[in-house]
Amino acid sequence: MIYNVRMRINKYIAAAGVASRRGADELIAAGKVRVNGAVLTQPGYDVKDGDRVTVNGKLIEGAERLVYYALNKPAGYITSARDEFGRQTVLNLLTDVPERVFPVGRLDYETTGLLIITNDGELGNHLTHPSGEVWKTYVARINGHPDRRQLEELRRGVVIDGRKTAPAQAELLELDGSCSFVEIRIREGRNRQVRKMVEAIGFRVLELQRTAIGELRLGRLKEGSYRKLTPDEIEYLKNC
Ligand code: URA
Repeated sequence: MIYNVRMRINKYIAAAGVASRRGADELIAAGKVRVNGAVLTQPGYDVKDGDRVTVNGKLIEGAERLVYYALNKPAGYITSARDEFGRQTVLNLLTDVPERVFPVGRLDYETTGLLIITNDGELGNHLTHPSGEVWKTYVARINGHPDRRQLEELRRGVVIDGRKTAPAQAELLELDGSCSFVEIRIREGRNRQVRKMVEAIGFRVLELQRTAIGELRLGRLKEGSYRKLTPDEIEYLKNC
């Protein structure tokens, strides 16, 4: 176990992605958490190096150093830890990250752009929880020129998979011959949402890039490259 600082038990459980901090407190109160074999009775316990923590009898692995990266995902990579069809996953791009990290949220196989990679389960839950999803910004190259009315439809919500999308933001950025670039900001994270929204107003997405998650911007990070997030960026994401 790579762990040498004390950490409050609820944070330790949350960091392993088992539950939120609040959920961890509830598990402790329900007597489901044991430390070195004994049921934990102190909710404020600080986990020490070498402690064996179990939840519902299952050993909590982890408490590795928490690491946070921004990756510019190229097209042709799947956003998951493993792929049953043997395709490349975004984790294959991280050549010098020994921690057991995972991507936060999903981008489609063909989508490029900003993806957060971490081993902090609590941050992952926070950023993807449906009750408070953060705004995500995409730039889509589409096969036509949407008019004002169509952009307004995107903003107000369109029906995809039988359900209306939540209010969004949509701006025409630039015309590109018979195509155009449209910036779309959404808070939800439904399956292929931007592509389906664009189809709902009569066009097709030709290329899609995520340019920001909240205030965290992709910037000049090259496709396939990644960088560590700064302490301020990490703090921002935890509180956004
Ligand atoms: N919306 C999509 O359609 N695809 C993505 O990858 C992300 C958002």
